[in-house]
Amino acid sequence: MDLAKFFHTNGGIGDTSYSSNSGLQRMGVMKTKGVIERAISDLCRSNGNFLKTLVIADLGCSSGPNTLLVGSMVIDAVAKTSLELGLKFPEVQINLNDLPTNDFNTIFKALHEHQENKTTEEIIDEHHPPICYFTGVPGSFYRRLFPANSLHFVHSSYSLQWLSQLPELEEINKGLIYLSSTTPESVSKAYYEQFQKDFLAFLTCRAEEIMGGGRMVLTLGARITDACGEKSYQLWRPLAMALQEMVFEGLVDEAKLDSFNLPLYTASPTEIVNLVESEGSFTLDHLESFEVNWEAWKRKSYDNDSSQLKDTECHVIAHGVAKGIRAAIESLVSDHFGEAIVNDVFTRYEKFLIERMSTEKKEAVVSITISLTKKTDI
Ligand SMILES: C[S@@+](CC[C@H](N)C(=O)[O-])C[C@H]1O[C@@H](n2cnc3c(N)ncnc32)[C@H](O)[C@@H]1O
Repeated sequence: MDLAKFFHTNGGIGDTSYSSNSGLQRMGVMKTKGVIERAISDLCRSNGNFLKTLVIADLGCSSGPNTLLVGSMVIDAVAKTSLELGLKFPEVQINLNDLPTNDFNTIFKALHEHQENKTTEEIIDEHHPPICYFTGVPGSFYRRLFPANSLHFVHSSYSLQWLSQLPELEEINKGLIYLSSTTPESVSKAYYEQFQKDFLAFLTCRAEEIMGGGRMVLTLGARITDACGEKSYQLWRPLAMALQEMVFEGLVDEAKLDSFNLPLYTASPTEIVNLVESEGSFTLDHLESFEVNWEAWKRKSYDNDSSQLKDTECHVIAHGVAKGIRAAIESLVSDHFGEAIVNDVFTRYEKFLIERMSTEKKEAVVSITISLTKKTDI
């Protein structure tokens, strides 16, 4: 299964789009604001006088408000540091990357509208934030995307937990769709080996593209301890239960469920540190892990679009989580099981989430952020 051929978050700006259902990822990126600002400030200070153009890339940008959030954080940090150093603002080129199936049109339409809304005074005011040029770069970030030594700063959020493909599995992960404490050891090992291969390929490609002294800030869905990620399965167990129920009712073939596994790996801090060290091109400046509560997926517009649900807190949150997960993985579910059952799958998913949340109120997604500097002596 080559993910690059069909995997995409839901495009557009409608009710089931990633754009309207990515509040949790947005909150995660907001939590890393300080790390991004520090990396940009250090970068500008170490390149001081010669930085006329700052070239950055956001890898796995998707489409929606989060796509532009990172760009605006970088622009603000560049402006602040330039003012502190008394230097002219550099021009900024922002390369937005995702798989070719991503909805790039929605991003560029939003950017165009944003530009149109600027006043002429804003555009010609030399004290106004740096001039920015945007480009779209379709392709997998597990391969080379840019010319050698052409980037100053790379960012990626909530994308690197997605593997390039599902690993070959020797055993069936019976009734499950991701790693849990009852998953066969050979399955967990195959997943980790695929993550190792992919993460090393990512680092090697970026090592060629980022110039010496350049920075990279990566945020991944992850796990905190080195034990198998039972906690990260809390998001996926209700989805497995929804599919099991559909097998029981004869709506989904059992073998079809047995062959469905998410091409996703939630790494631990130790695994990430070891891979950065073994690849060897980057210095690890900073690592932090944090949690974002599922509540962040709750939508403000909920009151208008869910009259059939009882208005209790866990119903509201479960509705938001189901929409957030659907916006991210609907293409995986419909590619494997067919489009016809997608609504049913996510309605049942929401029902099992509500059951789970009525006992476990404070569920969260674990994230890890690392800040890296490309070594100059290699
Ligand atoms: C959950 S979204 C994150 C989007 C955004 N960065 C954010 O923080 O909200 C994950 C994105 O990673 C992209 N992605 C997954 N694998 C990729 C790959 N190999 N190359 C480029 N993009 C990839 C997906 O298409 C999707 O748009």
